[in-house]
Amino acid sequence: MRALGIDIGGTMIKTAIVDENGVISEKKLYPTQRKLREQLVQIVKEELAVSNPEAIGIGTAGRVDPLTGEVNLATDNLTGWTGVPLKSFIQEETGVVTAVLNDANAAALGEWFSNHRRTETLVMLTVGTGLGGGVVINGVPLLGKRGEAAEFGHVVLHPGGRRCNCGKAGCAEQYVSMRLIHRLVTEVTGRELDRVTLVEQYMSGDPIVEKAVDTVAGDLAIVIDSIFLSFDPETVVIGGGICELGDRFLLSLREKLVAPSQLSLYSPENVVLSLSRNDSGIIGAAIFAMKSASRKQLRP
Ligand code: BGC
Ligand code: NA
Ligand code: ZN
Repeated sequence: MRALGIDIGGTMIKTAIVDENGVISEKKLYPTQRKLREQLVQIVKEELAVSNPEAIGIGTAGRVDPLTGEVNLATDNLTGWTGVPLKSFIQEETGVVTAVLNDANAAALGEWFSNHRRTETLVMLTVGTGLGGGVVINGVPLLGKRGEAAEFGHVVLHPGGRRCNCGKAGCAEQYVSMRLIHRLVTEVTGRELDRVTLVEQYMSGDPIVEKAVDTVAGDLAIVIDSIFLSFDPETVVIGGGICELGDRFLLSLREKLVAPSQLSLYSPENVVLSLSRNDSGIIGAAIFAMKSASRKQLRP
């Protein structure tokens, strides 16, 4: 069985064909356009004309109704996305079984499927433009009643703090993101670093970049500590753009977890970086769709 996996973010849409072993092919990238609905229909139709997937899986930023596949609430750059009946309209346009879930829930499932299939409870945090979260228990993503389970990015970390796109103030996503690392560097230097330069300077030990990353890592450690105490997972996987900072970042993050974890049973070693990086969202969405299409068990 093969599915078309789609990962919709505020800046990019990624697609690929995924087989039932999670192997991907024909990967494509598109900048997210304003008329997202029209763009998506076009992308999907082009894909269906060349490949013949038996299912379509879509991971999208925002809260997705687990029963209807409707986007219940989308903030960020996905203007006009709230209220879109994503699952039913793609299914009607294409005639192909479609499943929709939150992008970070999809990434967590993809990461579990590709790299952690023996793990009972896995929690993933995607640190990119924003902060996404996903919980997978025995291969099943926790979706919640309304699709807002694992929306860790909008848990308030600093009451009265930075305004969030969701309307609240002090949400974790306003402190734990690549966007904030860039902003902190700019505040000190007056310059805007591109992604590649930022990573290079971090690796070479630039003190300004290091300080910015450290600030974000400190807040990320607080989020991770709460996650361990909420779900007691075997593994917390960090995904998203922040993974480009590599092991140097992982080690400094683990150091920040040493203090809180002394009073707990988890170990900082239980925090790892994503192995599938940019592909976990596509893979997870496709696996979710194949499972919905066939009700197939995902256990090894
Ligand atoms: C959204 C989440 C999404 C995350 C990562 C957040 O701003 O609210 O739904 O999972 O960004 O894209
Ligand atoms: Na999520
Ligand atoms: Zn928020």
